[in-house]
Amino acid sequence: MTTDRSQLQPSQVLDRVLVLEMVRVTEYAAIAASRLVGRGDEKAADAAAVEAMRDALNKLAFDGTVVIGEGERDEAPMLFIGEKVGSAQGSGPKIDIALDPLEGTTITAKAGPNALAVLAIAEEGGLLYAPDVYMEKLAIGPGYAEGVVSLTKTPTENVQALAAAKGVEPHEIIACVLDRPRHEALIRELRAIGCGIHLIPDGDVAGVIAVTNPETTIDIYLGSGGAPEGVLAAAALRCVGGQFEGRLIFRNEDEKARARKTGITDFDRIYKLEDLAKGDVIFAATGVTDGSLLEGVRRWKTGRITTESIVMRASSGTVRRVKGDRRGDPA
Ligand code: FBP
Repeated sequence: MTTDRSQLQPSQVLDRVLVLEMVRVTEYAAIAASRLVGRGDEKAADAAAVEAMRDALNKLAFDGTVVIGEGERDEAPMLFIGEKVGSAQGSGPKIDIALDPLEGTTITAKAGPNALAVLAIAEEGGLLYAPDVYMEKLAIGPGYAEGVVSLTKTPTENVQALAAAKGVEPHEIIACVLDRPRHEALIRELRAIGCGIHLIPDGDVAGVIAVTNPETTIDIYLGSGGAPEGVLAAAALRCVGGQFEGRLIFRNEDEKARARKTGITDFDRIYKLEDLAKGDVIFAATGVTDGSLLEGVRRWKTGRITTESIVMRASSGTVRRVKGDRRGDPA
């Protein structure tokens, strides 16, 4: 869905100040994780980012609830789903938060591209409480007629429709797909029509957002990845435009039970942007490693630390790139 911003009212709850505060939160997480880039320890990198993000969130004067986080309470000691964050519990604005302090733990451990610290906030109830299951994803950038692609069509039909809308041949379309054995059939199908495929090792939040940036040359995102990451990517597309559809994938009864706990009963539903992230939304991300969206954290010999972040808001459509330069690690 392409957002019609003329009809989207800015939220009174999401204060403008929060837009820049969110960058501080993702910066802290990215800086903490950056110490562990290339160190082969995914868990340590994730733990560092989680702790830093939690500390930063708890300094903010709001009444926040983590709706997408590190897992359920018994799985995650910090930033678990349902955890309250913010220093104004019961008195401040009620805000729902979807977060991934380190999107791309393996990337970080291997010093690969596109690891991010990322979060999205909305008014209470504005973000889908997505269970930690896979989601089939389909995304294209802004400027196309609504519904030109859809999860009800085959990948071939979607590429053909997109090519026609773009005024090119299907073999000129570039698709981004996670490099996974489960995508073998999809990759074969796309190659059969001559599509270019940009295979990514991990990090489909950046992969989905890449369709909105012509410099990446990626036209379409296809394939399955984490449902929580789907909500985060959808929040970003609500701000910059573009179309997204997601359908949850359930591999067993346990996964269905997880979904029921979050209030999901229609297991075949196709979620559009507004179903995943509705109303006014703020999305923020800081690069941990260099990637298509952002530069990674740099630790200079002088001790200075530089960062690049992006923060955007759905109601205004404002996209800000924020360069940080600090004397050292945050206290
Ligand atoms: P982590 O940060 O949890 O490692 O997730 C990385 C990621 O590549 C996501 O971007 C993506 O949605 C998901 O993993 C895909 O899951 P899987 O690795 O099981 O295919």
